[in-house]
Amino acid sequence: MIYETIVSSISDNGVPHVTPFGIRMQDGLVVIAPFKPSTTLSNILSTGHAVVNLTDDVRIFAAPLAGKPIIDLTTASKINGVRLTDLLAHKELKLVKFEDDETRPQLFLEIVHEEQHQPFQGFNRAQAAVIELAVLVSRLKRLPLEKICGEMNYLTIAIEKTAGPKELEAWGWLVEMVENHKAALRSENLA
Ligand SMILES: Cc1cc2nc3c(=O)[nH]c(=O)nc-3n(C[C@H](O)[C@H](O)[C@H](O)COP(=O)(O)O)c2cc1C
Repeated sequence: MIYETIVSSISDNGVPHVTPFGIRMQDGLVVIAPFKPSTTLSNILSTGHAVVNLTDDVRIFAAPLAGKPIIDLTTASKINGVRLTDLLAHKELKLVKFEDDETRPQLFLEIVHEEQHQPFQGFNRAQAAVIELAVLVSRLKRLPLEKICGEMNYLTIAIEKTAGPKELEAWGWLVEMVENHKAALRSENLA
């Protein structure tokens, strides 16, 4: 089972990096599998630490893809790292095993500390729709445009029926990314 989360890490000289990752659990360890190249991968390999942040604010999934930095960060309690300030829960992690691979290595991390900050409020279809579109946007250059537009049309139903202001804001950023991509393809075709 894959859980969609936000992974925060820091570089050797303390620069924070925050980005969405699907993680899985294996034998009590958190497994993160970044495609190379990845800033998250370099950061975890150099510091040995990361934080998994659990949030229902889907703007945090969309913002890194739309080039909007996440600035509301707090120092982690037990490791050399940062976490989102406003979130449901977080897990502070220590790297214990690394399986390298040409395209997608696997990082195995032990949970050294975890905290619950706010209760889970229930599922929301618009949040799921934003996460689906975020995955498509993270693969914008590798997926056919027709697939992205077709799925976006379907996902719009959940947005129209169930979104709140945060979901609408995140959705808007992602739609803009798709529109910019479409415009770039059009001008490539004209050139
Ligand atoms: C919901 C979601 C899950 C993602 N899961 C992964 C993942 O498991 N591995 C990965 O390499 N990128 C994943 N991505 C894409 C990364 O967030 C994005 O490409 C990011 O830039 C990773 O590279 P970085 O470490 O250099 O930031 C995911 C994106 C979304 C929206």
